[in-house]
Formats: sequence, structure tokens, C-alpha cells
Amino acid sequence: MSIIYREKESTFQLDTPGSSYILGLADKEKFAGHIYYGRKIGEDDVAYLMRTEEPPFLPSENNRDRNSFLDSFPMEYPGSGGGDYREGAVGVCTKGGHRTVMPLYKEHRIYSGKPKLEGLPATFGTEEDCDTLELVLEDKLLHLELVLYYTAFRELDVITRSIQVRNQGTEEIYLTKVMSLSMDMDNRSYDMISLNGSWARERRIQRNPLGIGRQSVGSVRGVSSHQAHPFLALAEKNADQKRGEVYAVNFVYSGNFLAQAEVDQFGSVRLMMGIHPEGFCWKLEPGERFQAPEAVLVYSCEGLGKMTRTFHDLYRNHLIRGKYKDKKRPILINNWEATYFDFDTEKLLEIAREAAGLGIEMLVMDDGWFGRRESDNGSLGDWEVNEEKITGGLKYLVDEVNKLGMKFGIWLEPEMISPDSDLYRAHPDWAIQVPGRTPSLARNQLVLDLSRPEVLDCIYEKVAKVLRSANIEYVKWDMNRQLNDMGSAKLPADRQGELYHRYVLAVYELQRRLTEEFPRILLENCTSGGGRFDPGMLYYSPQIWCSDDTDAVERLSIQEGTAMIYPLSAMGAHVSDCPNHLLGRSVPFATRGYVALAGTFGYELDVTKIPREEREMIPEQAAMYHKFNDLIRTGDYYRIASYQENHEYDCCQVAAKDKSESLVTFIQVLGRANFRSRRIFLEGLDPEKRYQIEGESRTYRGDTLMYAGLNVRSFLGDYQGKLIYLKMV
Ligand code: GLA
Repeated sequence: MSIIYREKESTFQLDTPGSSYILGLADKEKFAGHIYYGRKIGEDDVAYLMRTEEPPFLPSENNRDRNSFLDSFPMEYPGSGGGDYREGAVGVCTKGGHRTVMPLYKEHRIYSGKPKLEGLPATFGTEEDCDTLELVLEDKLLHLELVLYYTAFRELDVITRSIQVRNQGTEEIYLTKVMSLSMDMDNRSYDMISLNGSWARERRIQRNPLGIGRQSVGSVRGVSSHQAHPFLALAEKNADQKRGEVYAVNFVYSGNFLAQAEVDQFGSVRLMMGIHPEGFCWKLEPGERFQAPEAVLVYSCEGLGKMTRTFHDLYRNHLIRGKYKDKKRPILINNWEATYFDFDTEKLLEIAREAAGLGIEMLVMDDGWFGRRESDNGSLGDWEVNEEKITGGLKYLVDEVNKLGMKFGIWLEPEMISPDSDLYRAHPDWAIQVPGRTPSLARNQLVLDLSRPEVLDCIYEKVAKVLRSANIEYVKWDMNRQLNDMGSAKLPADRQGELYHRYVLAVYELQRRLTEEFPRILLENCTSGGGRFDPGMLYYSPQIWCSDDTDAVERLSIQEGTAMIYPLSAMGAHVSDCPNHLLGRSVPFATRGYVALAGTFGYELDVTKIPREEREMIPEQAAMYHKFNDLIRTGDYYRIASYQENHEYDCCQVAAKDKSESLVTFIQVLGRANFRSRRIFLEGLDPEKRYQIEGESRTYRGDTLMYAGLNVRSFLGDYQGKLIYLKMV
């Protein structure tokens, strides 16, 4: 058991292989206080760290300056309105309009394993994998119970947290805020690392010193978003890839979120992660419960690299599910950048015939096959095959593709409704909108009010009917706009504030149904590229399209940020045509291949039209994918050099868990004159063993390559790259 309760000291200690998380109960009133999280420590009495003995802030019930105590005590889950002037983790409004909430310890349970979160994605683990503490807090006056779930993993430095709020009273209560995690850390100075971006520029790494006050990232766009990412790390000033302490939190959720670090007057840091309170108000009737999503905490005292590898192992083994969890994915070719909306059966078959001969294993038919969709102006919601384009019908097309020895995949955007659609003409009230206000369109479309069961059922049936009609083995689930003008024609006035969250729950329900009815299907989520690349979606789809930006150079930064948290097996990455359609850059075909190899691998181009020399390289690239994908999917990932930092070259490495082989991808973005070779330092090798680089006759010791390094010669020209593959001899 990795969790213990020390009754005498009233402390709980949660241990993972390299970390300890300790909390305690302060004196008579039993405020739950945070004591320590960091490098693993042994059995000791550490309750003194809560400083409850330090005057003038004694927490004895009658004899103290209560405000001073509340405002400085390291709360494990702070209420609000009661005298702790830092930001609270939970907000309420009672029937009488009062807003103070003060949760105190009631009881706890400790057990092996990990409970499921109803209706929500979450990491999972068996009784052998992890242990759970349920810490029950209550506000007696409000008859409100808050159950804090902590799960400590036995093999990974991971602690997951979530919370369930229960109304045990006889009156309704409104929740205006429920953070999934709050943690008060003692005064140390940190840098805050976050991932920010925009459409086609997702997940750029940003690092800033943490100062006094509140620093946050968040999304109120209804999706986790291109712009912000549900991730925040606090790193020691000197922390880099290999050294230093890092505390990271990632949210297993796909809607509005807030991740915040607040530094107070004493230099303490309050770290928080949860559903963004803006626009959130959840009515809890007597007896009802609200389950908040899960936040994942990762601790590393070996820098960002170890943090990354911990996230990768957690998500590969305890989040991603389904048939393709541990499997190589088929090399696909998608017709979006090849044809956009201008295609028909014959064009698709022409692409498929050529692709099959080159070793490509699956054809994906993108947007434009349904309704009367010739542009992005209409038809979303009309999920019937347009037989004028798909002549002979969908089954014919799929069968023909299958006859070529290829799988078939399809694009869908089930959450949307076009004003110009039969669905909208029949059910205008099915779109999210505010009565009397013209809703703002994005990409000429509106969002379906999936909080209504009849809408959800109808859309599921329409989509499932298509998937049942032919041998479809892959779905690209797209979502091409963010949410606004929040209004549901069905929800009562005092439940409109639930719509954002109900929407996310409905998306999860749709994907649950789809993955359960069609276990054969490889699901890839996509949100105008990478606008919903988060652990919530990863629970349903083992891979997510990383970005609409397929330029290999831009992808270096996008993939570096993405791979800082998510396993390479989850990163949708394809070779596309040049000049790149978004930014006009031309990068050699080989380099495009190396960059896409670090993800799921595939093509996004018209294989019948690209230059012959490029086409001829595809079988070679396919062979490269088959040779290296097991290693890339399952190995340990190391960030060796960052183009974002040095503006010249990029280098990452994957090493097999047993250290028997390793692959280094080196991309020289900018060529340079009169420079000697660059020395890179490898990682993840056995220092004592010898390794041979493919194509070389000599061997190197592991420690030589890791500590003394390897020279990589400069290339002539920009955007050049190479793979360095080494094997233990
Ligand atoms: C989004 C996706 C693209 C493509 C188009 C189709 O932008 O990210 O890959 O599927 O939609 O409309």
C-alpha cells in the first residue's frame, strides 16, 4: 500500500517511486492542510510544516486571529468567502444567496485500485497499479460534502486528483466553481511553463518566472483550444531537460479550463486546475452529486525530460484504450490537401490505386462526401452520402479500396449543424444559441445542443448508420469551431450555466457509444487541427491530429510542445505537398518524412500529382516507418535540442526501454557556412554497453555517446535532416 494514515499526527502520506505527497489535519477544527509534495521522504512526523504552532495564527477554536490563520494556512482544498483571501477552489451560491463555503475534514477511506469517474474520461489502474485515498470534507452548515480523490501510482511518479461534490441537504445549492485540484506549496521560486498557440501554431512552449499575484492559462472557448492548453508546470529556476524539480499538472478534460498559480504575500504558491468558473453554474438538487474531471500531477526531480517520460508511460498504459492501444497504425493517405472538396469516387480510387502500389495502407476520405457539401458553407448534420460524387455509393467505394488491399477511413464532424442544412431547416432550435440574438457563425456553422438527449441520439444514429453501411476502419472526428452564444432551448433558466460542461459530457458520450459499437475503428480526433488535443480526447481516440499546419519546420515546434506531454503514438503527423499550402515553404520530401515519422505517419497529398522522384521515395519511407514504429511508439523519448530555443536545428531521440536500440532524428533547419560539425549528447543508453550506428563500422560505448557526445556534420542547405539509428552490439 503506497498510502498511509498516521493517526497520532493526523497525516496522510502518499508515496510513488520517487515522490511523497503529504497532507494533514490541523487541530480541533480539522482543516485539511498541505504539508509537502516533492522528492520521496521516509517515515517521519512532519505535521510541524503546517506551522499551526506559529503565533499569532493558532487555529485553536476560540483563541486566535482566525483571519490571519485562514489567509496563511496551506489549505489542501480551500473554500471561499471565509477569510482566506487567496482564490478558493470551490464556489457556491445557496438558495438564500450566500456564498461562503468552508470545507473541514469529516472522514477518509484508503483502498487499492482506482474508481472510475462516471461519464468522464480518466486514467485507470488495477489494484496492483495504484492506491486511492478518499478524503471527505464537509461544510456542515451547507450540508455539502466534498470527496477528494487522490490516486498514487506504484510504478510512476503520478498522483491523480478529482473531486465529487454531494448535496446532503434539503435545499438546492448552486456550484459556481469546482476546481479538481488545489495545492498550496511553500515559498520557493519557480518558473511557470505553459503551452500556448493559435490555429496552425499549437502548443508552443512558454516559460516565465512566477511572480507575486495570479498567473493563469485557461480556455473559455468550450474546447481545450488551440490557444491555451490544460497544462501547467512549475519548474525550479535551474530545471532543464535533465535536472531540477518539476511539478506538472495536466487536465483530463476537453472543455473550458483554468490552470493557475497564485503567489501570495508569504511567497506560497497555490496551484489550481479545474473547469473554468467563467460561465459555469451547476445546480445541485438535494441528494445530487457533481463529479469534477481528473487532474494528473507529475513530479520529477530529474527535469522536464523525466516529466515527459512519466506522462508518456502514464498515458500509454493507463489512459489510451482500444484495439490500437499497443499497435502500429496503418499508414494512411488523406485526400484533404490533395483535393479539398473537389473529388468523386473515381478521383479517390485513382489516389488509392497509386497509393496501394507504394505501400500506403489506408485511404481516408475527408470532408465533402455528404449532403450537398461542395464547400464549407453547408450540409453539416446531413450525414447522407452524396451519390452524385460518391457514384456507386459508399459501400462500392469502400469495397473497391479494400480490393486494393487497403483499409478505408472517413471524415465526420458530428457536433455541428450548418444553417444551410436539412437538419437545421427541420430543427432550428437544435443549435446552441440565445433566443432573440443572432448567433455568430464560425466557418459558416453552428454547434449542436448535444445536452439534449434527442439531439445526441439522432446524431449518433445518423453517424452510426454510415459506419454500419460499409467496412469503415478509421474515423477522423473533426470539430471546426469553438462555442459561444451559450443557450439551450431545453435547459431551464437556472441550468443554462451547465451547458458548457453538459456539452463536453455529451461529446464523451457520443465517442463512448462509437468506440463501443465499432471497436474495429481507429478513431482520430481533430479540432481544426489540434484544438482539442488533450487527455480527455485521448481516452477515446489513441491518436489526435496535431495541427492543420503540415509544414515540416513549423511541425518541429508543434510536435516538440505536444510531445512534452503526449506520447508520440498519439501525434497525428503526415507528409504533405510543397510548397506547403499554409505558408508556402518547400522542404525536401525526405525531411518531411523524418518529421512525420515522429508521429503516427501518413500522407496528405495527391500521390498521382507529386513529382516522380518524391513518389519513388514513398516505398522507402513506408519501410522506414515499419522498421522504426515499434521503437517510436513504445520507447523513451528524449528532447536533445530544440529549434525553438536555438533557432538552427532540432534533435530528438527515442531509446528502447531495454536500451537495446535507439533512433535519433536530427533536422538542420538553417544551413550555415564555415562551421564544424555539431556535438550532440545522446541519452537513454546503457553506459557500459557498446553501440553501432547503422551504416558505420565502428562501435561506441554508451557513456561515450551520452557524456562525451557524437558529432553530426553540417548539411549543405536548409531543411535537411537525417536519422541516426544505433543498436547495442
Ligand atoms: C479541419 C481539419 C482538416 C480537414 C478540414 C475539413 O480543418 O483539421 O484536416 O479535415 O477540417 O473541412
